[in-house]
Amino acid sequence: MCGIVGAVAQRNVVPILIEGLRRLEYRGYDSAGIAILNGAMERVRSVGRVSDLEARAREMRAIAPTGIAHTRWATHGGVSEKNAHPHFSSRDGVEVSVVHNGIIENHEALRARLLEAGYQFVSDTDTEVIAHLLHSHVASGLKLFEAMQQTVRELAGAYAIAAIHVGEPHTVVGSRRGSPLLLGVGQSNAEGSENFLASDTSALLQVTRRVAYLEDGDVVRIGTDGYAIVDRDGRPAHRPIVESQLSADSIELGQYQHYMQKEIFEQPGAIANTLEMVTNASSVSAGLFGAEAEEVFARTKHILILACGTSWHAGLVAKYWLEAIAGIPVSVEIASEYRYRDSVALPKTLVITVSQSGETADTLAALQHATTIGLRDSLSICNVPESALVRQSRLRFLTRAGPEIGVASTKAFTTQLTVLFVLTLVLARQRRRLSAAREKELLAQLRHLPAAMNHVLECEGAVRHWANRFAPKQHALFLGRGVHYPIAQEGALKLKEITYIHAEAYAAGELKHGPLALVDRDMPVVVVAPNDSLIEKLKSNLQEVRARGGELFVFADRDTLIEDQHHQPRGSRGVAVADPARGAAAAAGVSRGAGARDGCG
Ligand code: M6R
Repeated sequence: MCGIVGAVAQRNVVPILIEGLRRLEYRGYDSAGIAILNGAMERVRSVGRVSDLEARAREMRAIAPTGIAHTRWATHGGVSEKNAHPHFSSRDGVEVSVVHNGIIENHEALRARLLEAGYQFVSDTDTEVIAHLLHSHVASGLKLFEAMQQTVRELAGAYAIAAIHVGEPHTVVGSRRGSPLLLGVGQSNAEGSENFLASDTSALLQVTRRVAYLEDGDVVRIGTDGYAIVDRDGRPAHRPIVESQLSADSIELGQYQHYMQKEIFEQPGAIANTLEMVTNASSVSAGLFGAEAEEVFARTKHILILACGTSWHAGLVAKYWLEAIAGIPVSVEIASEYRYRDSVALPKTLVITVSQSGETADTLAALQHATTIGLRDSLSICNVPESALVRQSRLRFLTRAGPEIGVASTKAFTTQLTVLFVLTLVLARQRRRLSAAREKELLAQLRHLPAAMNHVLECEGAVRHWANRFAPKQHALFLGRGVHYPIAQEGALKLKEITYIHAEAYAAGELKHGPLALVDRDMPVVVVAPNDSLIEKLKSNLQEVRARGGELFVFADRDTLIEDQHHQPRGSRGVAVADPARGAAAAAGVSRGAGARDGCG
């Protein structure tokens, strides 16, 4: 994923820019670059690591008080130096340079217009249109700050941008919509101040903890004389400066090989932190979700969950819980679909957004769309307190997973599930569908979750063994039933995202309706099989896989393990995992019984 750093100071900012990029490396990238102002505009770009960029900057003896920097994850145009940011636009003595995260949706129309105006394009990126557009406004006589305001009025899509202009050597400007950008306020003395921009706080911890989160539509100017912000309507805007609580330790790798491993092992602690407010309670209360929650929940007749990716999977799990335990009808929609769909707004709907970052453009737009069509009760379940989603929601519950550095979501997902389960209990209590005794029992199971998860993590060795067998595979199927079907979906997403192995998830009962045709000895089939009310049904599905010679990888409770090992035919890869003292999620597996279609196929 892309990253941005910008800096203006009385000192050389090149090491700050490079260190900022290094701290954003965890987000993944394929190329990197910096542009600096030191009398002239200079640029260094490199395909590959930030360390390569650093070496090239050192060779060039790059030194400057002003600059912008970027790590790119290719979206428009392949991975090459010409497509790496910063992008330049230079003509008639005006020279600007731009870095950009996000996607400009109207880039083709803008490109056609700019070509007609005589601009030449040297990259395949959508970002280059921003550089030329900005150039055209500076060339028409506007200062860089005003030119940026004019430029973003013409852009459609999601973006965070930073830019410099050779004619304003102590200025960096930026803007954001749908993609994060924050301002960092550095030290100041009689000679002036230093100020920064970044797409992520972690890039700035090296120079400051004092940050202001820009809002959608904001345009910002930073200089050695301070900073200025205007909102989407061009009015001066005040964004509070807050002290970032992000600790340097929380973003260190420590004993782990990579961040995803670290964050998988942080799950028990993250869940315990998230549950802190209910640790000693024998009952949960609506107040956990905000002062207005009692009133909002009392009038709620339906729930609409909006999210993307992993967070959407958390929403899909919650639907099973909320309908079965709290008795509330729930729809779960992919935010990028919902925002563009003509949907029917059911009165008395509570809109729940689920997001790790709270800055996902589609989720934010989906929430705004819901508000526009009259759904005003909103609850955000989010990991970032200062995020746009939290700010825009009436109610909130913060997951306390800590920074999720790995791009693949892990502890954010399990803490989201934890909060969604707490919500289920609150709503079930309020609707008198849960006795005090049952609530106490479920709460006890919820509190046992961190310990149960620690047991599961002891299976790392067995899972590593499986991973070796998986490595040469091209495809995989994931199966689950009931509440574990979305878990299977999440598993398939993780495998695709991290290993580039093609994976699909199916509700196990669907296997015989088509996908079984894919199963043969080369197709690993991963099954999520805790011992719940659907386990016998699931075992029939496993027989179907075995009959076709498929290789099974089954995640089961230990008691199921013993039984299954006795019945395991040669060729099955075996069964692993899980804590006999099952956690709340498994214990609350709420799906019931057989479908009428069993036996066909
Ligand atoms: O920050 P969000 O939870 O809103 O992000 C939504 C998705 O992009 C995210 O969950 C993504 O699917 C995961 N990082 C994948 O592991």
